[in-house]
Amino acid sequence: MKIFIDSADLEEIKKYLKMGLCQGVTTNPTICLKCGVKGGIEGVKKRTIEIADLIYPYPVSAEVTSDKVEEIIKQAREYSKWADNVAIKVTITDREGKSLLPAIYQLTKEGISINVTAMTTFNQAILAARALKSARDETRRKPRYSFISIFGGRISEEQGVERAFKVIKSVREWLDLHKFEGIEIIVGSVRSPENVEYWARTGAHILTIPPHVLLKCFLGARTKETVLQFLTDAQKAMKELEEK
Ligand code: E4P
Repeated sequence: MKIFIDSADLEEIKKYLKMGLCQGVTTNPTICLKCGVKGGIEGVKKRTIEIADLIYPYPVSAEVTSDKVEEIIKQAREYSKWADNVAIKVTITDREGKSLLPAIYQLTKEGISINVTAMTTFNQAILAARALKSARDETRRKPRYSFISIFGGRISEEQGVERAFKVIKSVREWLDLHKFEGIEIIVGSVRSPENVEYWARTGAHILTIPPHVLLKCFLGARTKETVLQFLTDAQKAMKELEEK
């Protein structure tokens, strides 16, 4: 299972790269804003390119800002030129619930890496996977990445963590059963270390984790106390050894 950093903060990304805990990054305009990106789309472009360079060859996802098929296609074609490890996030439907698979299918056939996002059901995820696979099979310009993002946290808020677990696990089983290679599940909206612990066992290919959640994952109930005890004991033991 890979770990993506759900952030546009360069320092945080560098920190986890140095630990071997960053195999990709996911962003959206809200995340960019929180991470101090300024200057509208030019600012987002600049930051995305910086992240893409920093983590290459790992992917960074950048999100389109429209739910209209034509505008999505236009923006995605533009964003995909920023770097060849940029994946374009497109929501599974528009705000009315109308499918955006026409844009997703078309862009994938053009060789553009798409991250189908904001999904909360099994059906959405398998339909997205089917559209991505059809496009990948039908084109000579195979995209570098094709992701399906299931928002665990948002499922949990409505239907509990168990339901989120079942949805993610069933989608993974379905992908394997039908040998849908090249399509990877990202679990998004991870809110807590408990979410990490639970959803890491679904078989999802990737968990995208915000830095503040990842930081808490290093902590264990008695670890700090144990380290202090080891250090104190080691000092005592070394002193005694020197005296012998
Ligand atoms: C994932 O790709 C998204 O960036 C992120 O996890 C969104 O989660 P949220 O909007 O539910 O917090």
